[in-house]
Amino acid sequence: MGSLDLKRIVTDAQRAFANAADTVTLENEKARFLGKAGALTKLLKSLSKQLEPEIRKSEGALINAAKQKVKIALNARRQAFADALMNQRLEEEAVDVTLPGRCSGIGSLHPVMQTWERIEQIFNSMGFDVVDGPEIETDWYNFTALNSPENHPARSMQDTFYLDVKDEQGKALLLRTHTSPMQVRYARMKNPPIKSIFPGRAYRVDSSSTHSPMFNQVEGLWIDKNISFADLKGVYTDFLKNFFGRNDILVRFRPSYFPFTEPSAEIDIRFEYGRNARRWLEISGAGQVHPNVLRNMGLDLKRYIGFAFGSGLDRLAMLLYGVDDLRTFFDGDLRFLRQFI
Ligand code: PHE
Repeated sequence: MGSLDLKRIVTDAQRAFANAADTVTLENEKARFLGKAGALTKLLKSLSKQLEPEIRKSEGALINAAKQKVKIALNARRQAFADALMNQRLEEEAVDVTLPGRCSGIGSLHPVMQTWERIEQIFNSMGFDVVDGPEIETDWYNFTALNSPENHPARSMQDTFYLDVKDEQGKALLLRTHTSPMQVRYARMKNPPIKSIFPGRAYRVDSSSTHSPMFNQVEGLWIDKNISFADLKGVYTDFLKNFFGRNDILVRFRPSYFPFTEPSAEIDIRFEYGRNARRWLEISGAGQVHPNVLRNMGLDLKRYIGFAFGSGLDRLAMLLYGVDDLRTFFDGDLRFLRQFI
């Protein structure tokens, strides 16, 4: 073996490393020179034991020096690959600090929910608490307890969504057609005074610009020893003034009929739609709680009296925001909903 051979091996290795286009090729090339079967390793192994120790030593030193050079070339190339990779990453992940910030989509409450919260706040401020109730009801709570005779038209299949499940009385469960069942349900759980509202969903087989099969109502109930129709008028008118944020609201209590109140009224408000166009719009049923209902609540008729109302929550939202078709609230069209952010 001559020093020329060694030099050639070193230059071969340097060239091979320089030509390696990627790290895999580079590591394969490394094996060719420095691996167990590599050229330099072979040379070292081939140093015959028969050689003079002095010569063996100097030959070995030469090979090791060559090996060192090859290693330096290898490491330099490895470093070059690592640098290139790092530069590439830096370039790819570069942040352009001059770009405008990316806005994250901020959610917002549905206009009906905004109305719902507004109603809760106002009644809260007047001393009413807020109570939730089930949307699946029994026939008794939805109708019978509310003094609705068996043959009442609201019980017909046209108006009510019935479930295929029967209650203990053998009557089909139903989706409540109003929030009024909460009057009796709650009064049977809590002793008077009761001063509560019950906002929630109700269901009827109905669909038009002012009706949706699923809609929201807010029921109100105030039962105590000395509650009169004047309290109902006062509370409800105050509520409306607060709700619409104005004092010049015209409210009308129009005589009406509900099985569960006596006397009963329908509450209308005068509202403007466009220039010089005004009309009365019905927003609530109301009245003094019927004695039969008080009885079903388990209350002593001689001691307690009260009023109840049931308002269309979505209708209040329509008026508040000037929306002319109730169903748009439930279509889920974001172009419509974004107006209320
Ligand atoms: N539950 C009645 C309806 O849905 C409204 C109402 C509630 C009327 C309470 C009187 C008292 O039409």
